[in-house]
Amino acid sequence: MRKKILAGNWKMNTTIEEGTSLYQEVQKGWNEIGSQDLICIIAPPSTHIFQLASATNEHLFLAAQNCSEFAAGAHTGDLSAQIIGSAGAIYIIIGHSERRAHHGESNQILQQKVNLTLQADLYPIYCCGESETDRDEGVQNQIVLDQLKEGLFHLTADDFGKVVVAYEPVWAIGTGKTASPAQAQDMHAFIRKSVEEHYGEEAALNLSILYGGSCNPSNADELFAKADIDGGLIGGASLKAKDFIAIANSLKA
Ligand code: PGA
Repeated sequence: MRKKILAGNWKMNTTIEEGTSLYQEVQKGWNEIGSQDLICIIAPPSTHIFQLASATNEHLFLAAQNCSEFAAGAHTGDLSAQIIGSAGAIYIIIGHSERRAHHGESNQILQQKVNLTLQADLYPIYCCGESETDRDEGVQNQIVLDQLKEGLFHLTADDFGKVVVAYEPVWAIGTGKTASPAQAQDMHAFIRKSVEEHYGEEAALNLSILYGGSCNPSNADELFAKADIDGGLIGGASLKAKDFIAIANSLKA
């Protein structure tokens, strides 16, 4: 059966010193929750991964927020999936809307990143989600389906089994505007159905689909109560250990 996952995306926040103390607080809170069924993934700035990796365990993992679409070589400033893995991360967030929008990352580029992540024996957290205009025009399902088809559906069933999907409507990220639980559930069910059509029922049932976009301690209960929402990808609220752990308690419930 699929896993419940709470992931914190710290984005470009925290120095190593700040990040280390935030991580220790999260770790302490997570240990207190003590649930065997929950997985916590923290995606700090990549510079922090090596240092924080010494304190990971079977329920607490590290992710990078991005990787290069190239395997190695003359790509100044980039980090390959393999290098990220060697620092101690297990997951890589691929296709966050900020990367799609600010770095021109197309579904085709993201497909390369997914492939390299898997080749490095790491797990992709593949982000998808529509813009506000897409939703106003009623094309949100088509946009998300294209993102899935072009970025993921080339994978073998075995490799697809290693993927986590995060649905993050662009209009809800960092805006304080959360998708309503019903809107999020509709999209998660649509994603699961699309996966079922492509990979079959078992793959669809085993896929963890996280919701992201202004999720916080006051709306997490309602979101996580929905049948197809298996966790969250948390931005702003992951920078406060207390809020992140409160969201984890909602997921545990
Ligand atoms: P937010 O960000 O929780 O601050 O909206 C979510 C994300 O970008 O992953």
